[in-house]
Amino acid sequence: MQLIDGKKIALEIQDEISVEVKQIIAKGGKQPHLAAVLVGNDGGSETYVASKILTCEKVGFKSSLIRHNSDVTEAQLLETVHQLNNDPDVDGFIVQMPLPKHIDEQKIIEAIKPEKDVDGFHPINVGRMVLDLPTYVSATPYGIVQLLAKYNIETSGKTCVVIGRSHIVGSPMSILLAKNTPQGNCTVTLCHSKTKNLKSHTLNADIIVCALGQPEFLKGDMVKEGAVVIDVGTTRVKSSETKSGFKLKGDVLFEEVAPKCSYITPVPGGVGPMTIASLIKNTLLAARKEIYK
Ligand code: GUN
Repeated sequence: MQLIDGKKIALEIQDEISVEVKQIIAKGGKQPHLAAVLVGNDGGSETYVASKILTCEKVGFKSSLIRHNSDVTEAQLLETVHQLNNDPDVDGFIVQMPLPKHIDEQKIIEAIKPEKDVDGFHPINVGRMVLDLPTYVSATPYGIVQLLAKYNIETSGKTCVVIGRSHIVGSPMSILLAKNTPQGNCTVTLCHSKTKNLKSHTLNADIIVCALGQPEFLKGDMVKEGAVVIDVGTTRVKSSETKSGFKLKGDVLFEEVAPKCSYITPVPGGVGPMTIASLIKNTLLAARKEIYK
């Protein structure tokens, strides 16, 4: 069993990006600028956004954090999006999800200019991804594709099961793995809450991407010998073992599943750091105007 070290690969990507940023600035170019909008003070969202901002600093990007209380109106949030859309210094921005229930997330996503949508959530960017056009690929699936590439994991002709059909991870992941690309050409089954006899699917899978947000859902008896398992889960559970009082738990029961795998991602240190590295990569594409010229 080989552990897929997402933290190490993410640091390598960050190093490559910081070299590029130095070159841009040496040539008199503008410092790439990522802005993040955070609504309320959900612990998980605070942690993710803080990591995104910290990574910007590490690679030499400018970053801005725009905070709103959880009682912000939809109109006020739309106004923030319009300001960021029209700020020539901001290359790309994200609105951290989830948003409070009184705000229509889709309306906010659709208000973001596609050329600044470095999360790749706007319908135009999702559509471009489906049609193999240049786009910002949603950061978590993009990070997973890069991990498969770095570890030379063969995907062509493999049977792949994606568990979870979220717009952010499961759906785009299933599409990317089925494409005619170096990290594609899988035969993909997208499983979800209505799937009957899930175990019959997972036991047949060469590659399993587990992205349903249910801690330790995937057990050892659901995985075939030699499978590649990618764990996207990052549920915060209370823990007396950590300073913060929380621990991240994946969707995979690691102790049972890992011994059966050829490759597996740990939580933490697997997919999570790659999500942030991919967002930073997308922001560099935005700064260089490589997608929308
Ligand atoms: N919430 C969970 N993952 C993400 C992400 O990749 N981007 C944003 N904006 N919100 C999230």
